[in-house]
Amino acid sequence: MEYRRLGRTGLKVSELCLGTMTFRWTSTEDQAYQVLDHAWDAGINFIDTADVYSRWAPGNSGGVAERIIGNWLRTRPRDEVVLATKVRGRMWDGPLGEGLSRQHIMAAVEHSLRRLQVDYIDLYQTHWPDWETPLDETLRVLDDLVTSGKVRYIGASNYPAWLLTKALWISDKLYLARYDSIQPHYNLLNRAEVEPNLAGLCLDQGIGMIPYSPLAGGFLTGKYTRDYTPPSARGAGNDRMARYRTEQNFALIDALAEMGQERDKTVLQMTLGWMLSQPFVTAPIIGANSVTQLDESLGAAGLRLSEDEMQRIDDLTGVKRSWREWFLN
Ligand SMILES: NC(=O)c1ccc[n+]([C@@H]2O[C@H](COP(=O)([O-])OP(=O)(O)OC[C@H]3O[C@@H](n4cnc5c(N)ncnc54)[C@H](OP(=O)(O)O)[C@@H]3O)[C@@H](O)[C@H]2O)c1
Repeated sequence: MEYRRLGRTGLKVSELCLGTMTFRWTSTEDQAYQVLDHAWDAGINFIDTADVYSRWAPGNSGGVAERIIGNWLRTRPRDEVVLATKVRGRMWDGPLGEGLSRQHIMAAVEHSLRRLQVDYIDLYQTHWPDWETPLDETLRVLDDLVTSGKVRYIGASNYPAWLLTKALWISDKLYLARYDSIQPHYNLLNRAEVEPNLAGLCLDQGIGMIPYSPLAGGFLTGKYTRDYTPPSARGAGNDRMARYRTEQNFALIDALAEMGQERDKTVLQMTLGWMLSQPFVTAPIIGANSVTQLDESLGAAGLRLSEDEMQRIDDLTGVKRSWREWFLN
């Protein structure tokens, strides 16, 4: 496993980050502990979660994934794990139960620390924008948490480039801690959210990018075919998956399989290898329901595609890596 700096920071994270959204949603609690153990043994030191995971699953309150990670972490060296969690989603009823206000964040961080059984969070991320709270209010409370030692670095998720730029500007102007990472929805089927603007911003400002859903929720594993949808809570009946089922996307999967054959890599591994080859990406956040699934993703560690392969993928996805013109000229 290789380790990379998170953006301009000195924090070293594994090039694969383990996502935990599946815990007690599409995987059982036992599977979650097995996946955590296996990831750790393979050298993954970077774990992503959120207070809301997985509140949407029947029978779950929020905080389930954080609680599982907290139990697991008791037997691990805390200072060797980079723990990332998020705040923003609704965690309790009423007007203060969600958002990025000082009030909500101050309460939510204490709940996360308690469930995780730690006294600091390595990377505290704002899960998605809160249009009803001024950015400077959010950044000031995040800065207070960094100063108090409860949080070490701050990051954002689902922020478009213009909003992240505005946040950097406010941090700079007010001498506050700045966002050092961004967690966007980014994969071969959803490039426009990142390329070129967010990608260029991250390269220019030294912001670490940790994309989520790198396999498009499983579509880019190769198990979805033109005439087969596998049984999964993410598959059948899912609108997004239905939208992915285009001839262009299946042709892309065919090409990934073909290129993978030459390297003895699967479609899933070529998909992650493509992402690991993008210079603005620090670590894709991988999701796995089982150790078997995780093992396949681990087979992508260290994989870097050639320029010819990257170009062929650009042609198939209809995206030109135009951010390169800003940096390579
Ligand atoms: N910031 C945000 O708003 C946000 C949003 C979403 C996710 N995230 C983070 O990103 C992480 C990853 O997201 P994601 O789960 O959508 O990632 P993903 O990598 O796109 O999809 C993971 C899913 O792919 C399938 N899969 C993985 N490996 C497989 C294999 N070897 N064989 C067959 N199927 C396989 C599994 O689903 P099935 O077995 O069910 O098909 C698995 O749950 C989350 O856990 C979370 O930490 C953040």
